[in-house]
Amino acid sequence: MLTLSVVATKGGVGKTTLCANIGGLLADMGYRVLLIDADIQPALTRHFQLSYEAPNGLTTMIQRGALADDCISHIRLPPESFRGDDSVLNVRGGLLHLVRSDTQTWDEEREVMRYDSALQDWLSNRLDRLVRIRMAIKNDAVTSKYDVVIIDTQGAVGHLQDAAVNAADMLLIPAKPDIVSAREFISGSLLLIDRHESAGNMGYSIPPMKAVINHYQNTVDSRTITSLIREQFIELRGKVTVMEAMVPAIAAFPKASTAQVPVHWIDPVKAGDIMHRLMWELVPSVEGKFTPNHRGDLPVSQRTENTHEPDTDLTLEA
Ligand SMILES: Nc1ncnc2c1ncn2[C@@H]1O[C@H](COP(=O)(O)OP(=O)(O)OP(=O)(O)O)[C@@H](O)[C@H]1O
Ligand SMILES: [Mg+2]
Repeated sequence: MLTLSVVATKGGVGKTTLCANIGGLLADMGYRVLLIDADIQPALTRHFQLSYEAPNGLTTMIQRGALADDCISHIRLPPESFRGDDSVLNVRGGLLHLVRSDTQTWDEEREVMRYDSALQDWLSNRLDRLVRIRMAIKNDAVTSKYDVVIIDTQGAVGHLQDAAVNAADMLLIPAKPDIVSAREFISGSLLLIDRHESAGNMGYSIPPMKAVINHYQNTVDSRTITSLIREQFIELRGKVTVMEAMVPAIAAFPKASTAQVPVHWIDPVKAGDIMHRLMWELVPSVEGKFTPNHRGDLPVSQRTENTHEPDTDLTLEA
């Protein structure tokens, strides 16, 4: 089982979007995917429609240090509102499950949603706070059930982000090619490296870190800043590799999020290619695998060379 945490100290760079779409793509390829929404603002929880909403979620999982069925919600794909041809969607028996973020409560008196810090407070009093997510998912019960776990995090340093980093086999860091985001990418990544390297005395090491340029635009500014980000390899102590695959700013992403489907369903050609390329580079063991609808504009009869059946061995490796 591969655990991927998507982190960035900058908000709005595409963490949730990448989690949802990588999860949707892998599930469509036939993998068993568990998404964990470790952001106290539950964007990933709301990204897809649920066919089953478990009574509990993140708080219970972390406080127990174990993941049981009462914390696992099921995602409905396609959603009830889906009107397209679903005959080649999600047909390989993959799973898309979710540990929902449950830290928000409705304040009756003031009629507002409160994003509760109770879980962060609980963690801050625990000596083992760094390993609470790892404990919950790195055991036989979970590793035999899922091929990949994808953890979404909040755009700020904190105990939840630390625990998500510690649980990961690989970190994915989206970086937006504008100057403010690029600076934040550099300082935020350094902070992350320092924070987790200092836990090295306790026997922990920071997992491989891969940055992906998201929101890429074909403008001089975007190109210049993308090169600048790529040149930070030494500055970032050789710890962060910037991926070749880039994700452009395209309307298919917000559209897919509105339709509550993975982006490669909305735009099988452009977004489909982008997501496959990204996935193949990120996890080389899936290289050459396609989702059944890949290049869905072609009639099914012409798609045969692209509709690879998933391997019988579905283990994902970093
Ligand atoms: N490649 C893209 N092209 C176009 N829009 C995008 C792209 N990636 C993300 N977006 C949009 O940008 C917005 C922010 O993305 P997202 O919510 O994934 O960021 P985030 O890093 O999770 O933010 P936060 O820090 O608030 O959790 C969303 O409206 C999303 O649809
Ligand atoms: Mg988010």
